[in-house]
Amino acid sequence: MSANDSLDAAQADLEALEASALSAFQGARDPQAVEAARIEFLGQKQGRIKTAQERLRGLDPAAKKVYGQRFNTVKKTLEDACDAAKARVERPAAAVAEGLDITLPGLRPRLGHRHPLTQTAEELVDLFGRFGFSVARGPEVEDIFHNFEALNIPASHPARDPLDNFYLSNGTMLRSQTSTVQIRVMENQPPPVRVIAIGRVYRPDTVDATHSFMFHQIEGLMVDRGVTMADLKTVLRLFAQSYLGRDVKIRFRPSFFPFTEPSVEVDMLWHGGDRWVEMGGAGMVDPNVFRAVGYDPEEVTGFAFGLGIERLCMRRHAIDDIRLLYQNDTRFLGQF
Ligand code: PHE
Repeated sequence: MSANDSLDAAQADLEALEASALSAFQGARDPQAVEAARIEFLGQKQGRIKTAQERLRGLDPAAKKVYGQRFNTVKKTLEDACDAAKARVERPAAAVAEGLDITLPGLRPRLGHRHPLTQTAEELVDLFGRFGFSVARGPEVEDIFHNFEALNIPASHPARDPLDNFYLSNGTMLRSQTSTVQIRVMENQPPPVRVIAIGRVYRPDTVDATHSFMFHQIEGLMVDRGVTMADLKTVLRLFAQSYLGRDVKIRFRPSFFPFTEPSVEVDMLWHGGDRWVEMGGAGMVDPNVFRAVGYDPEEVTGFAFGLGIERLCMRRHAIDDIRLLYQNDTRFLGQF
């Protein structure tokens, strides 16, 4: 080293040394590579940092001060880089023996979410909750009284045909409608009533794109003094527009259910739709139903409705085959 080494040249070499040392430490993939880099750059005897240090001697006092400070920083940076590289490539011996590499990035757990039907049900609970409806429940294995008798469906009625119902032994059946819950609620509390019930119902239908032997319904029941069909229509319209979109229209078509009088089919028409689609049934609670649960039909009136949850969910998401909702195929379910 000559006694008149220039500060610029010495500093330029120091920068180059730092850059190549850092890339060596950062690029090292195993302990051997780190050790080789350590010896090359930080080695006590022949390390390149040693050579850089020796250059101090060839500089005049002012330059020495500048270079010395920079040298100290670089040396510290390289020592830290060496430590970091060691920590990165060193693995516990046991883990290495098992072939476990704890330095690999972890496996991100796949997050699931609720089934679209559950999402629909929860949204309905929320929407009707805002209209003041609370949630009621009833059993899926029902007795004949709650599924038929109390709903004004006598033994001779075709709805009780064994081919249209899943009868079980000892006078029970899988409920064919959630209207059963209307009865159970009114048996257990005096009016006024404002409830919805959501749950599975069972009918021996042949499975196709729009039918299943098991599906879900939402039942609504409101009983009080002076409840009218206008209330029914308003509630259903507001509900349909909240769930399916502001521009959805609803229509009542005259119909018949033994437990409502008058009865209607509820149809909906949405933006871009070319035909009315039947979403369920509704009507004013039949006086005979009130009598079966001990309510006075002279005192109170009420409306009830029952809508298919699958239909609502399928409409909302443009799903065209009901079977997709039951196959638990995550390629399908993952989209919602
Ligand atoms: N329970 C009827 C059905 O399943 C629907 C309905 C509910 C009709 C309430 C009127 C009132 O078809």
